[in-house]
Amino acid sequence: MNVSFRKGAPQETSADTLCVGVFEDEGAPAALDEAIGGDLGRLIDSGEAKGSFKKTAIAHPEGAISAERVVLVGLGKRAVFDAERARVASAVGLSRAREAGARAVTWALPDEGDAARVAAAVAEGAVLAGYRFDRFKTSGNDDKSQVDRLEISSDQDVGTAVEQAAIVAEATNTARDLQNLPSNELTPTALGEHALQLAGEIDSLEVEAFGPDRIRELEMGGLLSVAQGSDQEPRLIVMRYRGGGEQLGIVGKAVTFDTGGISIKPSSKMEEMKMDMSGGAAAIEATAAIARLGLPVNLITVVPATENMPSGHAVKPGDIIRISNGKTVEVNNTDAEGRLILADGLSYAVSSGAERVIDLATLTGAIITALGSTYAGLFSNDDELSSAIERAGEASGELVWRLPLHPDYKDLTRGKVADLTNVSDQRKASSAYAASFLEEFVDGKPWAHLDIAGTAWGQDNRDYVGKGASGWGVRLLVELVRAQAQAS
Ligand code: BES
Ligand code: MN
Ligand code: ZN
Repeated sequence: MNVSFRKGAPQETSADTLCVGVFEDEGAPAALDEAIGGDLGRLIDSGEAKGSFKKTAIAHPEGAISAERVVLVGLGKRAVFDAERARVASAVGLSRAREAGARAVTWALPDEGDAARVAAAVAEGAVLAGYRFDRFKTSGNDDKSQVDRLEISSDQDVGTAVEQAAIVAEATNTARDLQNLPSNELTPTALGEHALQLAGEIDSLEVEAFGPDRIRELEMGGLLSVAQGSDQEPRLIVMRYRGGGEQLGIVGKAVTFDTGGISIKPSSKMEEMKMDMSGGAAAIEATAAIARLGLPVNLITVVPATENMPSGHAVKPGDIIRISNGKTVEVNNTDAEGRLILADGLSYAVSSGAERVIDLATLTGAIITALGSTYAGLFSNDDELSSAIERAGEASGELVWRLPLHPDYKDLTRGKVADLTNVSDQRKASSAYAASFLEEFVDGKPWAHLDIAGTAWGQDNRDYVGKGASGWGVRLLVELVRAQAQAS
């Protein structure tokens, strides 16, 4: 979607559709309504258009406006209007416009709150709502209508905010593409190539994608043991961006398909396990977006990528492996593979100089039971990093809920014959257990783990995301880095 900003009156748009927000118990924006002949006010007076949140109505004004239609979108009460409501309203307006056959949309920025924040949220909501994954539909696609041009209009100078929001939302949509791609298309090799291609596009970004030989040299027994059952080669994707400031490590789980391995999963819904690379997709795209924005941080982003397959050469329950930091692990369940590859990924980030580390992973089914798709689970050994992530979550709409680490959970990770076991005996506290396991590989550095198994797929409770791939984490990570930069 082409996104632009125009300073000036919304009615001067050349788009076919104008979206306008209406607050509850208030009239239409007066200057606009007057300019186009009072149609909006009449629609509100008649009760057809309402300011209640997410309510839409369409006007076809004949007055001094070239747009074919105006979509009125209820913004709810002014007092509770915030960035999240702006995202939702923007998405609702865009969907309604698309239904009506719009190709180009101008959003008249609601006059409330911090103009730059609202502008960014409106741009974001529309770009995310405009997302489609239809590249494999050859024909018979009856939902052809696409909005390909979005303009934000305001009398305030919010061009930069709009431009930056578009970069971040497009990166999120690219992460969604990666999530949606089936595992026969998005192999670990293909994910590596995608990251390498980003380095070609963005000058400040350096990318390497290590294959099996280099991974063996690095003695990454976690990644190698998960990959050994597959005919697809693993990749260790390493991205570096130097914008100055702190060394932040980002680690993302990229299991391009998780069958469970020898501890095989049930077949029902197994096709969804193509999304088990969502953490890696978010890590890669957030890194790209941060580099495009030129934010002041040094990133080392590490994405171990592999399939998890059963085969005659797959890792078997009871096998003992050695992670690159030297710790040994009994692989007592081959479906608990994410923590094995993350162990190597975290070790690599820390030994490469990361001062703080954040990992994102679709790690446990239990986090879906606990938090659904509303919050990602946050586990951290550091209160400051943890609250910074919570704040970034609130600002971006990608919410996190902190859950505890405790010595009791640590006890569960102790192996019978090796240092660690990759699965707790009684399946107790599965998500917290997994976090405790990961903590073994951060060498005491401030670290936060985001379990995104519930949020990465199916945020039907967010109008601007909807069903399926959400690209969860891109917006939160960019916001986190941006806020840290502003604070220092
Ligand atoms: N990739 C799964 C977790 C998952 C489940 C992600 C559902 C998205 C949707 C992970 O590798 C896994 O299989 N976890 C197991 C661990 C268990 C065997 C200890 C789980 O949570 O059941
Ligand atoms: Mn698994
Ligand atoms: Zn998995």
